[in-house]
Amino acid sequence: MLNLHIDSNLQINRQVFKQLAYLIQSGHLQAGDKLPSTRSLAKNHGISRNVVNMAYDQLSIEGYIEIKRGSGAVVAGVKAPKQENRKRKSKTNAVTLKPEVFDKQLSAFARRCFVEEQTKSLQWGFGENKAEIDFRFGVPYLGESLQEHLQKAFRGATKRLDSRQLDYGDPRGDRRLRESISNYLAISRSFHCQPEQIIVTQGAQQGFDLIARALLDRNDKVIMEDPRYLGFERIARLYQADVDHVPIDGHGMIVDELPHDGRYKLIYVTPTHQFPTGVVLRYDRRQALLEYAEKTDCFILEDDYDSEYQFTGRPVPPLASSNGQRVIYCGSFSKLLSPAVRVGFLVLPESLVSHIARLKQYLDIGCNRIVQQALVELLNSGSFGRHLRKTRLRLERNRNALLRTLEEKINEPFEVYGTQGGMHAVVKFNHRRRATFFSLREAANQIGVQIYSPHSYYVKKPEALHLIFGYGHLRENEIREGVRRFADTIKFTP
Ligand SMILES: Cc1ncc(COP(=O)(O)O)c(C=O)c1O
Repeated sequence: MLNLHIDSNLQINRQVFKQLAYLIQSGHLQAGDKLPSTRSLAKNHGISRNVVNMAYDQLSIEGYIEIKRGSGAVVAGVKAPKQENRKRKSKTNAVTLKPEVFDKQLSAFARRCFVEEQTKSLQWGFGENKAEIDFRFGVPYLGESLQEHLQKAFRGATKRLDSRQLDYGDPRGDRRLRESISNYLAISRSFHCQPEQIIVTQGAQQGFDLIARALLDRNDKVIMEDPRYLGFERIARLYQADVDHVPIDGHGMIVDELPHDGRYKLIYVTPTHQFPTGVVLRYDRRQALLEYAEKTDCFILEDDYDSEYQFTGRPVPPLASSNGQRVIYCGSFSKLLSPAVRVGFLVLPESLVSHIARLKQYLDIGCNRIVQQALVELLNSGSFGRHLRKTRLRLERNRNALLRTLEEKINEPFEVYGTQGGMHAVVKFNHRRRATFFSLREAANQIGVQIYSPHSYYVKKPEALHLIFGYGHLRENEIREGVRRFADTIKFTP
């Protein structure tokens, strides 16, 4: 079966066309190979048959395939034109990887990354069409006061620069920043660790990369939740690990379903705020997961990406606070401040510290020191704590606005998950099929609203339509207006 990625904001028929054309150009599909029928391709990807017909027609017009009555479409027996003749100008500013770049000179490593992702936009961020109300998830509110704090912190950091501070620093991160992070974790997350266990990284993503490089060989086995955060899975696959998935329910990963053969090297989890559903791993499962890791001698990678924003009760402590020798803790400033800061950190079991520190030194010699010094200014100034408290209240109000307006305006059955914290909520529409997302998105776009689905995060795709509403960066009135418009759209979209 062809595995196409129907996800970006491009027209769907163009996506199908581009991906098939690429598979032919790169030799993945060869002259005489039969393409799937338009019916089965449409069904497998939850898209309309018309769209696939349009893509096939275009492929035929450009000579990639031949469509024969009765026997379907086959790859044509001619060579693709040379690169120079096919330079096209992108209509948008988004940077997309072009199939033409694919080349036999690339390493197998680079090709693994490229083959899977080549049609997607390079940039993660807001939809290109600049909708008036964009429910993008994962973006915190960058209010004026935070901007002021950041400016002040950067001014402070650059004022005190001397030649020592402008030199390469400790690849683990500046000592003062590691101390500040350790204090923050103790106060905010009831997690006590030593600055020596901390490695400052370029976002959580680099933390994932370091862990994967340090632990995973080809065919090593990794477990993730289903649904799961693709940011880690991509990295694990890049290093050729085998990734298995354990389903989640309303209480997080179903730990009883972990395999009993003990062949796993690493388990990636988001226990305090499961991504994307937002559920919390129940206390007995936390214990069972730690016991499993102990018994099978594997590490747990705990991604604690946004649990600072819990609205009720005491903050759920990280797993790492129960067993710091089994659990690798990964934190990020992307939600605490902004993804643009690109700073995250690992808190490592003692057995891994020196290996990961050495790796970090080999790979980039250490993170940007000016940013690190600005973060120290910010974390030690008191304004960071104030910012977090304000943000938590703001997020709670936004969450309430979202839930109330959904309740008032949507006239069909739905369920909402993950509302006790964070910056997004997942909504399941019980009577709608997953594939209706594309037409709904198009209709919502027409009235200035951008919506998103979490379907790509699921291995076992849900039958019903799920949407993910990010509310971190929006104002309450924007949320209400966005949901009202969306409710009008869904009413008239079958
Ligand atoms: C589950 C999860 N983990 C980690 C991150 C943060 O990654 P980074 O720190 O590299 O921005 C995100 C960001 O969206 C996320 O959703």
